[in-house]
Amino acid sequence: MISLGIESTAHTFGVGIVKDSEVLANVRDLYTTEKGGLIPVKLGEHHVEVCDKVLSQALEKAKLSIKDIDIVSFSIAPGLAHSLKVGATVARTISLVHKKPLVGVNHAIAHLEIGRMLSKSNDPILLYASGANTQVIAYDGGKYRVFGETLDNGVGNFIDSFAREAGLGFPGGPKIEQLALKSKNYIELPYSVKGMDVSFGGLLTNLTTKLKSGKYSLEDLSFSTQETVFAMLVEVSERALAHCEKDELVLGGGVACNKRLQEMCRLMCEARGAKFYCPENQFLVDNGAMIAYLGLIMHKTGNSAQVRDSKIRPYERTDDVVVNWR
Ligand code: ATP
Ligand code: FE2
Repeated sequence: MISLGIESTAHTFGVGIVKDSEVLANVRDLYTTEKGGLIPVKLGEHHVEVCDKVLSQALEKAKLSIKDIDIVSFSIAPGLAHSLKVGATVARTISLVHKKPLVGVNHAIAHLEIGRMLSKSNDPILLYASGANTQVIAYDGGKYRVFGETLDNGVGNFIDSFAREAGLGFPGGPKIEQLALKSKNYIELPYSVKGMDVSFGGLLTNLTTKLKSGKYSLEDLSFSTQETVFAMLVEVSERALAHCEKDELVLGGGVACNKRLQEMCRLMCEARGAKFYCPENQFLVDNGAMIAYLGLIMHKTGNSAQVRDSKIRPYERTDDVVVNWR
């Protein structure tokens, strides 16, 4: 069975095509800016501009025509309404014109399921570290439960805000990673883990003050930022592994592209005898393949929707979704 998946929760418009557990295509177009800052209306306009091109490229890559597709999946939640609407509209149109079943999927759960499929792990903890989201998720009692999360910004948005203060443009994460490689000088920063949750607001204020003081190099601040926030994420992930008595950790989300975060997670897992898996970057960042894959497994368990029931759900939480496909 072949599923076409459309991703448009935020800055990325992506189309993926998946045949069972084989990814045939995964094409994306990212909205970027020189100075940082994302305007929701602009994201929607970007997605309208590129949707046709991204869809054609994905079909071409998979050597398929739209008629070969069995189901159409799209990210129905959560995200920015202006962005979500574009993907939903494209998906509904294909569904209506070509008479294909439609499946709306939760984007956070798609990160987890593609990681679970690629790693062939059975019951992992997911550290989902992206721009807008930072959650530690695990399956329990018919739902994906959030065991820990950010109390304010997502870790990626926090890093991007710091990068913007430093005049680095969007996305800031990869630039901060490169700058961090040039330093080993740790500057003390606030470390904010509250139970199973993390927060970044105080840290951003502290960092911005340090940056503006002119007393610290951007390399040292970048290095210290990574060491501090990744230690926070590793701490809550480890506690979730222990609390849930699970022994597999999977990464998801754009921030998980960071090699230092991967290394710190790997070391923690080795130390406690857990398995660690990090998908390749194209499946960590927002992408259509993960939407296609989750749509496929949901469809097989009867989760398709009628167009009239396919309203976007910008605020849906991971643990709102009843997981009946496992
Ligand atoms: P979501 O909708 O799932 O919250 P998102 O819209 O923020 O995700 P992603 O593509 O998952 O999108 O992640 C983008 C974020 O990842 C940006 O904040 C970006 O700075 C960050 N990022 C990308 N590469 C790196 C890296 N190497 N190191 C740190 N952060 C990174
Ligand atoms: Fe994402």
